[in-house]
Amino acid sequence: MPPLTAPTEPASPDTSPAEAGTEAGTEAVSGFDAGLGLLRRQDPEIADVLLGEAQRQADGLQLIAAENFTSPAVLAALASPLANKYAEGYPGARYHGGCVYADAAERIAVDRAKALFGAAHANVQPHSGSSAVLAAYAALLRPGDTVLAMSLAHGGHLTHGAPANFSGRWFDFVSYGVDAETGLVDYEQVAALARHHRPKAIVCGSISYPRHLDYALFRSIADEVGAYLIADAAHPLGLIAGGAAPNPVPFADIVCGTTHKVLRGPRGGLVLCGEELAARVDRAVFPFTQGGAQMHTIAAKAVAFGEAATPAFAAYARRVVENARVLSAALAAEGFAPTTGGTDTHLVTVDPTPLGVDGRVARDRLAAAGIVLDTCALPYGEGHGEGRGIRLGTAAVTTQGMGTAEMARIAALFTAALRDDAGETARVRADVREIAGRFPPYSR
Ligand SMILES: Cc1ncc(COP(=O)(O)O)c(C=O)c1O
Repeated sequence: MPPLTAPTEPASPDTSPAEAGTEAGTEAVSGFDAGLGLLRRQDPEIADVLLGEAQRQADGLQLIAAENFTSPAVLAALASPLANKYAEGYPGARYHGGCVYADAAERIAVDRAKALFGAAHANVQPHSGSSAVLAAYAALLRPGDTVLAMSLAHGGHLTHGAPANFSGRWFDFVSYGVDAETGLVDYEQVAALARHHRPKAIVCGSISYPRHLDYALFRSIADEVGAYLIADAAHPLGLIAGGAAPNPVPFADIVCGTTHKVLRGPRGGLVLCGEELAARVDRAVFPFTQGGAQMHTIAAKAVAFGEAATPAFAAYARRVVENARVLSAALAAEGFAPTTGGTDTHLVTVDPTPLGVDGRVARDRLAAAGIVLDTCALPYGEGHGEGRGIRLGTAAVTTQGMGTAEMARIAALFTAALRDDAGETARVRADVREIAGRFPPYSR
């Protein structure tokens, strides 16, 4: 076997991926070139797929709210030989030999996560956000327990009681929602449902709610009925790290999250809790719901936590919110109807029906113009709960360095792209390429 080549120099934690290239240049995907050279010689078929994906990401506007561009340092950790290591268990108590560096990586990741979020305990092993929620339920609940969570039609995640998910099959979910007028969480309904159903746990968190949640109020409702409070902070976790959103850690018994999304780390999950639940949470992750952790991903999480602790990341988190606010207001001016009237976060959810299309048609026409985003449920109105709305986020475009001027321009491109006119779509595609080309996610 030929010797492994050393990963490229990790980026400074103060630099964004776009700023963190090794040489000046214009080719957006060149951060991958070194590794791809080797791969292309051995497996050109898959190398072409990876290059194609890198070009796709660089060539359009990536507005999927759960996506971002990790730094070259995070990518280097993901591509490291820690990917080879089996390390079932926890640092100092593994079921495998040779864990000295695996232990070191996990200890660093745990210490950084605890410091970043002010938590007494962190488990960095969950493979995904869903695994983190599963572990929280496993730590606190028994099958058949009642859980109060946001309705899926109002922005709850699959793990908050979807019939097709383990949560809906194994627990008895009761749903709260948002107010029909304001679109804001109906806390009176949450309290009334909690008093009536006496749930074992209340879950606060959403895939599309663009406002901050009142964690103190959720805590007081949970205390009143003797329920655990689980904050599923998958979406705002990066904003919390950057000080741009309130932190649920002081209020919730368990906080679950993802390390991708605004946090800008590798795909993965995270659980935070106090000392009193630490042993239960750890057992719930391993051995109850998972086997060996992905140690290269844990190293990459450590890198991301290190980056997120910098002043540069706090500034980034603020810019993410500023961009979302400007984009939401500009879309409103174009005729879209933002839920809750705006946003406090990276998330913008809008009803496109005033422009004569539903969410699915809007998503497809925008995708044809190089603007990539998701549909979402809208809680009220005809066909509520279906993919009638569109959901977008500003994490990735902000990482690329785009600012409020670009957000205003992007809003205008939305309207043009939604016209059912091939010539217009081609014109918008060219404009999207021009904007994206000025902000390469990975530069040489
Ligand atoms: C609120 C919430 N919980 C859980 C998840 C699940 O994360 P994953 O897709 O990593 O399983 C998500 C993902 O978007 C989410 O938004």
